[in-house]
Amino acid sequence: MANFSQLIDIFKPEHYQLSINLDRTERRFDGTVTIQGESSPEADKIILHAKDLEIQSVTFDGKQAEFTSGDNDELIITHSDISAGNHLLVIRFNGQITDAMHGLYPCYYQHDGQKKELLATQFESHHAREVFPCIDEPAAKSTFDLVLTTEQNVTVLSNMPVKQQYENPEDNCLVTSFETTPRMSTYLLAWVVGEMQHKTARTKDGIEVNVWSTPAQPLASLDFALDIATRTIEFFNDYFDTPYPLPKSDHVALPDFSSGAMENWGLVTYREVALLADPDTTSVSSKHYIATVIAHELSHQWFGNLVTMKWWNDLWLNESFATLMEYIAIDALEPDWNVWLDFATMESILALRRDAIDGVQPVQIDVNHPDEISTLFDGAIVYAKGARLLRMLQNYVGHEDFQTGLKSYFAKHAYENTQADDLWQALSESSNKNIANFMQPWLSQSGYPVVSMTCQDDVLSLEQKQFIIGPHQDSGKTWPVPLNSTSTDLPELLDAKQASFKINPDEAIRLNAGDTAHFITNYDEVSLQKILESLKNGELDTIDRAQLLHEQTLLARGGVISSAQLITLLEAYKNETTEAVWDIISLTIGELKKFVEDDPNSEARLRQLSADLARGQFERLGMQAGANEPATDTKLRATILGLMLYGEDESVIRGAKELYDQAGLGRLDPELRSLIIGAVVRHSESEELISELVSKYQSTSSAELQQDIASGLTSTKSPDTAEKLLGLITDSGVIRTQDTARWFVWLIRNRHTRATSWQWLQNNWNWIEKTFAGDKSYDDFPRYAASSLSTRQQLEEFKNFFGPMQDIPALTRVISIGASEIEGRVESIERDKDAVRERLGKI
Ligand code: BES
Ligand code: ZN
Repeated sequence: MANFSQLIDIFKPEHYQLSINLDRTERRFDGTVTIQGESSPEADKIILHAKDLEIQSVTFDGKQAEFTSGDNDELIITHSDISAGNHLLVIRFNGQITDAMHGLYPCYYQHDGQKKELLATQFESHHAREVFPCIDEPAAKSTFDLVLTTEQNVTVLSNMPVKQQYENPEDNCLVTSFETTPRMSTYLLAWVVGEMQHKTARTKDGIEVNVWSTPAQPLASLDFALDIATRTIEFFNDYFDTPYPLPKSDHVALPDFSSGAMENWGLVTYREVALLADPDTTSVSSKHYIATVIAHELSHQWFGNLVTMKWWNDLWLNESFATLMEYIAIDALEPDWNVWLDFATMESILALRRDAIDGVQPVQIDVNHPDEISTLFDGAIVYAKGARLLRMLQNYVGHEDFQTGLKSYFAKHAYENTQADDLWQALSESSNKNIANFMQPWLSQSGYPVVSMTCQDDVLSLEQKQFIIGPHQDSGKTWPVPLNSTSTDLPELLDAKQASFKINPDEAIRLNAGDTAHFITNYDEVSLQKILESLKNGELDTIDRAQLLHEQTLLARGGVISSAQLITLLEAYKNETTEAVWDIISLTIGELKKFVEDDPNSEARLRQLSADLARGQFERLGMQAGANEPATDTKLRATILGLMLYGEDESVIRGAKELYDQAGLGRLDPELRSLIIGAVVRHSESEELISELVSKYQSTSSAELQQDIASGLTSTKSPDTAEKLLGLITDSGVIRTQDTARWFVWLIRNRHTRATSWQWLQNNWNWIEKTFAGDKSYDDFPRYAASSLSTRQQLEEFKNFFGPMQDIPALTRVISIGASEIEGRVESIERDKDAVRERLGKI
């Protein structure tokens, strides 16, 4: 590891003075960086990171120095005077602006019929080195003075406010210098240059908050984000008790953006769908999504920016926390949204599904090669599972002690770097519990336990075992499991493999009430029946109902119960009214689809089950939103309509077509838009329809509408159409590179177009590699393929195709987990297919 990364051990930068001239039209930049820093006593050279840069000259303390490039993006500087102590490096360099969406890159958009561009940066995880020589490691915190020379008549934003700006008429350029940043890591430096519009507000403490977009967006679409961002900063100021330290907080929507959003200190960047909410066309669910993204990035201003992980192995200190804080913040700001239900139906499910595959990474993991850094960002693990573990911790120590611990953590470590132990110490002090002992097994071991519960008279026995779907051997792992049981006869923790307790045999005992710990429960027959009784009597909370159904789908995946039992269970949920639980019902129907794909009779039965279940709610809600209805009904209508459409209910299909014909794309209910487009595509497909949708996709400036059109189009039943759509993917003039993976995953998850898409991936791998290698989304492609392939033959094809790529560090893990995942699915289909079909015959 030391070989690859810890350049800071020999040279510690303190301050960067960075001047860059951007030549957008020539797609190049040149610059000078002056680095003040300290060499360690052993150092006889200085090594910086630099990638794809042409280095013109280097001086060391004013004297010309020698330099060469080494492996792993190293720029090795030698001079006979290099010795322990403070030194000054001055480096002149130049580089290219490319479309890679990391480093420094252009974003494309159209306004008033004209093609336009912004320039933006994306430096996380290790792309600052593509723009200037630096020690590109999170522990190498420094202050930065930035000067940018750009074209005129543009807005120039960076982390800090503008210090000075002037036009230079001779060179026809604009020179902008910024205030000095606080001590921070290189991956957080950022700037954006171009024509932009904005709206401004101030927090109670006077921090200026701005939301920015290109002028192609409606100005009103900035308001929602501005309100949420302002209130979220106020919330965190209070919650963490360390004030936001910069004078301003900018939030910019970029037309091209590789991930969802990026927490650059003081200059957060987003994809347009993750920030802009047009009051006329944005769905309730999109607004909730936008709010959580903003809260996530703003929480990074503390977790990540103010206090930063020492090294990437503790990435969870950034991302798991930011994910947890999304929910804590938005729940405080908008209590009516019930976001903890979303946590249960989104984060928990993501985490439980992925963390059940053999070979998955633990939350905390060593990084051996720079290319592996990007693969750490597995959303299901470092985000969802990590957040679930922290929530478990929050409940284990108590909410107040948790917050007190965090306050002292920030007070103690501001502007510094930390590792897990620093946090454990703060939380152990605030709670008087040994937090390291409790958390370390959860963080460092992959997977989670299934706790089996059996009752014999008045004795209840528990046994924990790692829960794995697909091929595996018993791991023998155990965890300290917080039982959160509904009975006072059970202890707080199960920290042995097995234990038995005396209980009251009349009670319906549940474990993990509220779904706050990272485990699932396998109840014996009698206990499960008791719980189902409580379910039918309306005695279970919403989260518990969602959790019960979801845990059963996992047990079915793992072969612990038969998937046919899910059908019986679903029938017990017929009278459900809550949106979050309906999401799980819908997911459970989705789970059953794989068993009927090649049997039209059974498929028709499953469709019927779907429509039968949903009909009651459908009759209540209809297809059009009522005036002033609660947002939960608005969201529920989409889930219910989805189930009815899967049920292929004639009148509903006709209704969807009528809405489409009457309203036209622009005026469809945003919550239902993708479903209605999808229904029309599946049931009334024509060449004209497809080209009408594709051309609307190209001409609209609304990323949300684009997303809904893509979702609708990719639900086609026609492999020929799929072929056509896949052809568009490699044309970034039609489908932006940022959206490729989304089109692909939707097409491969659709069984009608799966084979075509799988073939497309294999035929176009060179293009995928060229476009995405080096980026965090590179491994999405094998990941998405593995999420859908479902036959033995496809498993073989997957192994044959990706096998030779197993040594590419960015792909190694995703390939081996992918094979296990497909094998688990194939086994499950082979095991339960007949039983599911038979059970469907009896509905
Ligand atoms: N820090 C990440 C973004 C990131 C990670 C960029 C790695 C480049 C490399 C950011 O805070 C983040 O987590 N973004 C999420 C969205 C978030 C709301 C979950 C993303 O981009 O998916
Ligand atoms: Zn994040």
